[in-house]
Amino acid sequence: MSKPYLLHMITAAKNLSPFDVNMAYDAGWSACTPYTQVTLEEIAGLTQDAIFSRGPKGVARTGIFLGGRDVHLALEMLAAARAAMVPPFEVSVFADPSGAFTTAAAMVAGAEGCLRGSHGSGLAASRCLIFGGTGPVGSAAAILAARAGADAVIVSHLGLVRAEETARLCNQRYGVRLSGADGSSDAHIRDLMAGADLIFNAAAAGVQVLSADQLGAGRRLKVACDVNAVPPAGIAGVGVMDNGVPVPGSTSGALGLGALAIGNIKYKVQQGLLRQMHEAGSPQYLGLDEAFEAARRHVD
Ligand SMILES: NC(=O)c1ccc[n+]([C@@H]2O[C@H](COP(=O)([O-])OP(=O)(O)OC[C@H]3O[C@@H](n4cnc5c(N)ncnc54)[C@H](OP(=O)(O)O)[C@@H]3O)[C@@H](O)[C@H]2O)c1
Repeated sequence: MSKPYLLHMITAAKNLSPFDVNMAYDAGWSACTPYTQVTLEEIAGLTQDAIFSRGPKGVARTGIFLGGRDVHLALEMLAAARAAMVPPFEVSVFADPSGAFTTAAAMVAGAEGCLRGSHGSGLAASRCLIFGGTGPVGSAAAILAARAGADAVIVSHLGLVRAEETARLCNQRYGVRLSGADGSSDAHIRDLMAGADLIFNAAAAGVQVLSADQLGAGRRLKVACDVNAVPPAGIAGVGVMDNGVPVPGSTSGALGLGALAIGNIKYKVQQGLLRQMHEAGSPQYLGLDEAFEAARRHVD
């Protein structure tokens, strides 16, 4: 009898995400076992418990998925799991906390695609505002945008201190150069919009961060991306299905990328990486960078 595909799904949170469980079964895993409220210190022990019981054929059908809400902790867990492997007892590990890596990857790769199509350029030297950049999806998007050469700015609706704290943390950990900005008032937002080439909205679901008037202040804006699928639109005028179409009300002819268009790329990326874990034929370590590479392939 052939061995089943076993995915150990680990989170520091109280619950796994049902979204991730559905995705894992649909990607061919035969059984998905939850481990909740797990600490970083427990990762090495859990990893070694998972790798030694199934023999060489079994490890190829065993994987570890890392969820939770904390992008930094998930990357630390990924590194800890990798360090705990004892080749040839080695299994694939994929971190996608709160779907943040695959969602951010899809949004940033989608924006790159729009820019390339409309202006023949990538993100390099673009000034890029990330609303909701203190959250999991926004932080991941800011890191990717900065790595792709953008002048990436984390905007917080609670003010400069919070935005700068997140920027500093990401800069220290990932060697990027993010800055923070105050998005707590209409005047601040209009000032920021005046210098923006690109905007990403990754703020909490159901919140509008930019009104039509504020969007209109973006006189050199090229692309507006919104991952919020819950009404009202996170960026006024960007429809959930929009896939590189002009945003009504933009004074610069900016193109919009909506939540379901981004979600479509995200879905393919997450499915693909979950399959890659057991189809690649060798242990895979998949995090933010790998999600971005996959998203770029889907956008090309
Ligand atoms: N389309 C897709 O495929 C997909 C997949 C996953 C997630 N999502 C969406 O991605 C977005 C981000 O997810 P997340 O888990 O990172 O979000 P989150 O942690 O719930 O919120 C992100 C940030 O939103 C800001 N925020 C909260 N309340 C706000 C308000 N009233 N006004 C303005 N900003 C506010 C906060 O930053 P500050 O307080 O610092 O401003 C917070 O850090 C959500 O809309 C989620 O639904 C989409």
